[in-house]
Amino acid sequence: MKGLILSGGHGVRLRPITYSQQKQLIPIANKPILFYCIEDLINAGVQDIGIVVGPNKEQVMNTVLSFKWDANIEFFCQDAPRGLAHAVKISEEFLKDEKFIMYLGDNLLKGGINGFVRDFVDAKVESSLLLTRVEDPQHYGVALVDEQRKVILQLLEKPKKPPSNLSIVGIYGLTPSIFEAIDNIKPSWRGEFEITDALHWLIEKGYSIRYDLVEGWWKDTGKPEDLLEANRLILDGICSENKGCIENSRINGRIVIGDNTVIEEHSTIAGPTIIGDNCTISNAYVGPFTSIGNNCRIIDTEVENSIVLDGSDIVHGGKIIESLIGKDVKIRKNNSLPKGKKLVIGDNSEIEL
Ligand code: G1P
Repeated sequence: MKGLILSGGHGVRLRPITYSQQKQLIPIANKPILFYCIEDLINAGVQDIGIVVGPNKEQVMNTVLSFKWDANIEFFCQDAPRGLAHAVKISEEFLKDEKFIMYLGDNLLKGGINGFVRDFVDAKVESSLLLTRVEDPQHYGVALVDEQRKVILQLLEKPKKPPSNLSIVGIYGLTPSIFEAIDNIKPSWRGEFEITDALHWLIEKGYSIRYDLVEGWWKDTGKPEDLLEANRLILDGICSENKGCIENSRINGRIVIGDNTVIEEHSTIAGPTIIGDNCTISNAYVGPFTSIGNNCRIIDTEVENSIVLDGSDIVHGGKIIESLIGKDVKIRKNNSLPKGKKLVIGDNSEIEL
């Protein structure tokens, strides 16, 4: 079976980080979200993976190809974010012969997709979906189901009045019949070809679509708070590994510390927390639920429940909580007069002082 991962889109709700970085490459516990999707597909036995790229395509391709994967990986370029169904359509030549799995590259699923893929291989259906109950179904694709027969009766994309609280998770089992369905749909109110509409077309034609409910947690990492939550969930499962050097400092709980990282000067690291390679943590309190990338300095600062990307330098930063800090960011205390906050901040940033 083949796999298709979607790694395009502008990631508008994650600006300013996504001005310079493709959303699916943002690290969760120091690993790009996209890598979790690739690993899930490989673990489920998928050997041929296509990745649809859009903005920042070189960045995505270079990052993926800088690792050796136990699968063949190809890339397909989408000229503009025209919807999930459009991304499937442009990959038709690659996918057209057999059942395939589509995985949205900003989705994270605990427990992987092995069971889902196994069931889909055996099922005599046109499609298989993963669903989960949510409190805000109007923000997702929504399914109305027949619970006895485990089939889907209706699918709607972000309906104002959802007919159920069952949201579509971003992992889809599809067959080549989806291409005919895509040819028969029109763009939605948001101007995109929705995969939900194509699947609903199949239902109307009498095809059968089955579903499984997600066991464990699922996260669509569209907004900063989702990334922080995903970071907490992944860190919750880490095992300790220390390759760094700890001097006059305390470690509480499960911690991963990278090569050449120094924890010094009465610092405390509270787990679960991960700190990358070549970092200096000095007279600082880091954690819990915090990921610090490579080549960072955290000095005389507290960082809790946050994600800090590579190369950032925080000195006398006070107490930083629930924050998403991009690459090569500098945070300093203002020691000069007049006193006050001095800010150089990218467009669409959000700051709570
Ligand atoms: C997309 C799908 C939606 C699905 C969601 C899951 O939404 O259109 O049906 O529930 O992914 O992550 P989007 O992330 O494009 O808003």
